[in-house]
Amino acid sequence: MSILKHLAIIMDGNGRWAKQKGKIRTQGHKEGINTLREITTWCAKNNIAYLTLYAFSTENWNRPKTEVDFLMKLLEKYLIQEKQTYLENNIRFKTIGNIEAFNEPLKQTIQSLEADTATNSSLTQILALNYGSRDEIKRACEKIIQTKAYSKESDMGSLIQSHLDTKDIPDVDLLIRTGGEMRLSNFLLWQASYAELFFPPILWPDFTSDDLAKIIQDFKNRTRRFGGL
Ligand code: FPP
Repeated sequence: MSILKHLAIIMDGNGRWAKQKGKIRTQGHKEGINTLREITTWCAKNNIAYLTLYAFSTENWNRPKTEVDFLMKLLEKYLIQEKQTYLENNIRFKTIGNIEAFNEPLKQTIQSLEADTATNSSLTQILALNYGSRDEIKRACEKIIQTKAYSKESDMGSLIQSHLDTKDIPDVDLLIRTGGEMRLSNFLLWQASYAELFFPPILWPDFTSDDLAKIIQDFKNRTRRFGGL
C-alpha cells in the first residue's frame, strides 16, 4: 500500500467554471477559495502531512492586469480571513516561490501568517506563489554559487535539493491536476519526479473532498517502484 505524505494540487478550471455559469472569470477564482478551504481542512483531518497548492505561477503575470490584480487582492483577503481556519485546525502555513515581486502589504500578510502558524503541527499547507520550477532551480543554483557552497567533494544533486524552496519538505507522492488538462505547467518538476499523477476532469470549484478521497484510495492501491522492479 502506497503511503501518502505529500499531496500536490494544480487548481485548474476556475475560468471554465465561471464561463459555464455565465459569470466573469474572476468569479471562478472566488469560488475556488471555497474548494481550497474544504480540501485543506479535509487534509488536516485525514493525516496528510504536506499539501502544496499552485496558486500563482511565474507565468500567470502574463494574464490581463485586471485578473492579476484580482488574484493578488483575493490572496490577501483569503490569508487574512482564513487565519481562523489555520488556527482552529492546527495548520501550518508556508509558501514556496519568489514573493519578492509582491507588494509590501501582501508580503507582510504572508509573513505574519507564516509566523502565527509556525508551531502548528497537523497539516503543513504550502501555497506556491509566483512559483515556477525552472525559476526555483535557477535560484537554488544562484544561491549555491553566491554562498560558495560547492566544493570538489560536494554531491551536486544533494546541494540543489538542499537549496530548493522545498528543502525541508519530502518529495511529492501524489500530484493532482483538476480540470482535465494533462500537463505539469512548471510545477514541482524536481520534487514530483516519482509522483503518481491524476488528472480528474472536474473543474476546481466543483472538486470536493469526496473526489479527493476516491483518488487517494486509488493512489493507495498503486504500486510505486521508483525506477526499480
Ligand atoms: C487556474 O484556473 C487557477 C489559477 C491560475 C489560480 C488558482 C487560484 C485559485 C484556486 C483561487 C485563488 C486562490 C488564492 C489563494 C488566491 P484557470 O483560471 O487557469 O482556469 P481555466 O483553465 O478554466 O481558464
